[in-house]
Amino acid sequence: MRLDEWVKLEQLDLDSVETVVDEKVEDKVTSLKMTRHQKRKIDETHVEVGHEELDAASLREHEEFTKVKNIATIELGRYEIETWYFSPFPPEYNDSLKLYFCEFCLNFMKRKEQLQRHMRKCDLKHPPGDEIYRSGTLSMFEVDGKKNKVYGQNLCYLAKLFLDHKTLYYDVDLFLFYVLCECDDRGCHMVGYFSKEKHSEESYNLACILTLPPYQRKGYGKFLIAFSYELSKKEGKVGTPERPLSDLGLLSYRGYWTRVLLDILKKHKGNISIKELSDMTAIKAEDILTTLQSLELIQYRKGQHVICADPKVLDRHLKAAGRGGLEVDVSKLIWTPYKEQS
Ligand code: ACO
Ligand code: ZN
Repeated sequence: MRLDEWVKLEQLDLDSVETVVDEKVEDKVTSLKMTRHQKRKIDETHVEVGHEELDAASLREHEEFTKVKNIATIELGRYEIETWYFSPFPPEYNDSLKLYFCEFCLNFMKRKEQLQRHMRKCDLKHPPGDEIYRSGTLSMFEVDGKKNKVYGQNLCYLAKLFLDHKTLYYDVDLFLFYVLCECDDRGCHMVGYFSKEKHSEESYNLACILTLPPYQRKGYGKFLIAFSYELSKKEGKVGTPERPLSDLGLLSYRGYWTRVLLDILKKHKGNISIKELSDMTAIKAEDILTTLQSLELIQYRKGQHVICADPKVLDRHLKAAGRGGLEVDVSKLIWTPYKEQS
C-alpha cells in the first residue's frame, strides 16, 4: 500500500488478481455519477475537508489528485528518507523531488546550499516549546500550535509524507504537538511525534502519530502511545486515538492495549470489570472490549459478558503481542493539563 518503491511487472503475482469485483465496480460507477451531480454545492461549502465529510465522488477525486507522490525524498538531520505519500506542500515546492529540512525548526528548502546557509543562522537545537519529559537521552517537548504556528504547520507537511489517510490540518492552533527526541551534544533529534487536540469532544487523546522511518520498529511508537495515555491519566480522563487508524497504527495500538490489559489481568486476583480496567489504564471501555473480544477472552454467561482469563491463555497472548517497547518513566514527566489562557 505504501508508495515507497517502484515495482517491476515480474514482482506482481497476476494470478492472484480477482475478477469477481466487476459488478460492484459498475454499481459504484453509477452511484458515483449520480453523486457527482449532487455534490457540487456541497463542495463549495467544504473548504477544510476531513475524509469523513467527503462523499464517494469527492473522495475519489481527492484520491486521484493525491495518488502520485510529489516529493520523493527528504533530508532531515543525518538521514535521507524516502517518502511514502503525497503531502500538500505549497505549489512552489512541487517541482522538487527532494526537500531539505532543518531538523530543529523543520523549515524546508529546495536546495542543499539553502539549508547549509540556514543551518549557520538557525539557533534552535531542539523543538520549540516546553521540555516535559527527560529520561536518559530521551526528551519529549510539548509544542503549542498557537504559539508556534509555523513549526506546527511544518510538522504537518512532514508528517503527511508518511500518513496516508489524514487530512492536513492547517488550523494548528487547536493542537498540541508532543515531539519525541533523542538528544546528544549536537542537539535534540526528532524521532517521532503525536498531536493532540486541546479540546476533544470525542475523547480523543491522540490525533496523529508518527515514528520517522529510520527510527521505526525500535519501540518508539509504543512509547508515544503509552505517553498519550499517561497524559490522559493526569487529566483524569479516558482517551482513544482518532479514527481511522492506519494498518501500522492499528498493529501498534492492538499490541499496546493487549500488553497493558493482560499484564493487569495476570496480576489481578478476583473479579475485575471493564470500567475498573478503564479507570486504571485510561483506555476507553470500547477499546478494552474490542481488544478482549479479539483475544476471545470475553464470554457470555448467564446473560452477562464476563472476562475469562486463564493464566496459560494470557501468557500465550502476551507472547504473541511482541516486545513491550520503551517504557515511560512517569516520575520523569513534569506536566499539567492544557488550560486556555485568558
Ligand atoms: N510490519 C509489521 N509490524 C509492524 C511494523 C511493520 N512494518 N511496524 C510496526 N509494527 C507493529 C509491530 O507489532 C510492532 O511491535 P514489535 O516491533 O514489538 O513487533 C508494533 O507495531 C509497534 O512497534 P514500535 O517499534 O513501538 O512502533 P514504531 O516506532 O515503528 O511506530 C507507528 C509505529 C507510529 C504506527 C509507525 O509505524 C508509523 O509512524 N507509521 C506511519 C504513520 C502511521 O501510520 N501512523 C498511524 C496512523 S493512525 C493515527 O495517527 C491515529
Ligand atoms: Zn532551523
